[in-house]
Amino acid sequence: MDARHEILKLREEIARHDYLYYVRAEPEISDQEYDRLFLRLRELEEQSPEWITSDSPTQRIGDALTEGFQVVRHPFPLISLDNSYDEADILSFHQRVVEGLDGRQPSYVCEPKFDGVAVLLRFESGRFVQGATRGDGAQGDDITANLRTIRSLPLCVFSEKRSSLPKTFFVRGEAYMSKADFVDCNREREEAGDKPFANPRNSTAGSLKLLDPALVARRPLSLVCYGLSTESGQEQPATQSESLSRLREWGFPVSPYWVKAASIENVIEYWSRWQDHRDELPFEIDGVVVKVDSLADQRTLGQTARAPRWAMAFKFSARQAKTVLERIVLQLGRTGILTPVAELQPVPLGGVVIRRATLHNFDELKRLDAREGDTVLLERGGDVIPKIVAVDDALRPDHSKPFRIPRKCPSCDAPVERVEGEVAYRCTN
Ligand code: IVH
Repeated sequence: MDARHEILKLREEIARHDYLYYVRAEPEISDQEYDRLFLRLRELEEQSPEWITSDSPTQRIGDALTEGFQVVRHPFPLISLDNSYDEADILSFHQRVVEGLDGRQPSYVCEPKFDGVAVLLRFESGRFVQGATRGDGAQGDDITANLRTIRSLPLCVFSEKRSSLPKTFFVRGEAYMSKADFVDCNREREEAGDKPFANPRNSTAGSLKLLDPALVARRPLSLVCYGLSTESGQEQPATQSESLSRLREWGFPVSPYWVKAASIENVIEYWSRWQDHRDELPFEIDGVVVKVDSLADQRTLGQTARAPRWAMAFKFSARQAKTVLERIVLQLGRTGILTPVAELQPVPLGGVVIRRATLHNFDELKRLDAREGDTVLLERGGDVIPKIVAVDDALRPDHSKPFRIPRKCPSCDAPVERVEGEVAYRCTN
């Protein structure tokens, strides 16, 4: 076999093992065997650099530093979704859909609503050529080199499927960080003296903004795909469920949790099931997305400037828990700003044990009138640190006193003063 053939064969083989490992989580070979294939490919490419192309697995970890991202104009507007928060909202969405379809009840597809960073991927002749952020919907940043580092993103569609592909197609998806990877990432940051990220979405956005793809490659990013579009004139899938099946067949990471729903009642059941079980998923979701399955129906329904009339985000309510506020302590920031922080009786909330909550600032603390010994209601969105949203007056212990802003800094005794024109207080030292 000549070098060129061996290179092509190795690429295909490595791509298949990446797929089995990163998309299916069912590896067939050991890490050591994988490394051997990879090293052999790198060796051959070093001997014949003229055969290196951007879709080779050796090219994921780019080393070209950019000064900034190029702006990409999207081929079509990347509109967002309207939100619903309860059954009444979703029933009126359904009613509008049925009216728009002259009284016909559609089938829906329900998917998790991944809490990450939206991206649009462009494929030409089966090869990944460009990836962009959503930006303002009309144009975004070209983050191709950073996205290439995500190992579940196929640089090249499986060769046996390539002949049946549209010449150009676009995949919409979400880059995200799993809960476990997020915890590891924050631990590393804290060890390095960097400020931890508040939630997996921020750490994903922060990672994708890095200008050095080699650094991005060290961040544990994942990808999930949920939309397929082709250029007009090319063959389109007839339904959203067919888009998802095709993407999966072509080797894209598609969430296995989507379902077809024959009625709006089934949609509500799906939403309520994931509201109760979202903590069992290895990644954050902040709701579910409901889409009319048929693309012909989607076209009939159309869209507003902001959002499609055929889809809706059906959001979860924030996770809540009650616990006792044991102590209010003051945290001294690097700039001397004092922030009140609540130390709590530990309470499980959304898969983690909560011990502290932010009180933001003294105005907020005064508004809540939270006191030591109070029973408080905590709310946690996607953030690690929850906030106190209410105090249960009925359970307030006798003789409790409102919190007083200290005159002296708790760590150095210097006088404390209010920052001009702000709500913050600062240690004068
Ligand atoms: S579909 C025209 N499906 O949620 C329809 N979006 O609030 C476009 N998102 O911008 C979006 N999971 O970043 C869709 N399964 C899913 C999603 C999803 C997360 C994000 C996406 C979108 C935002 C809308």
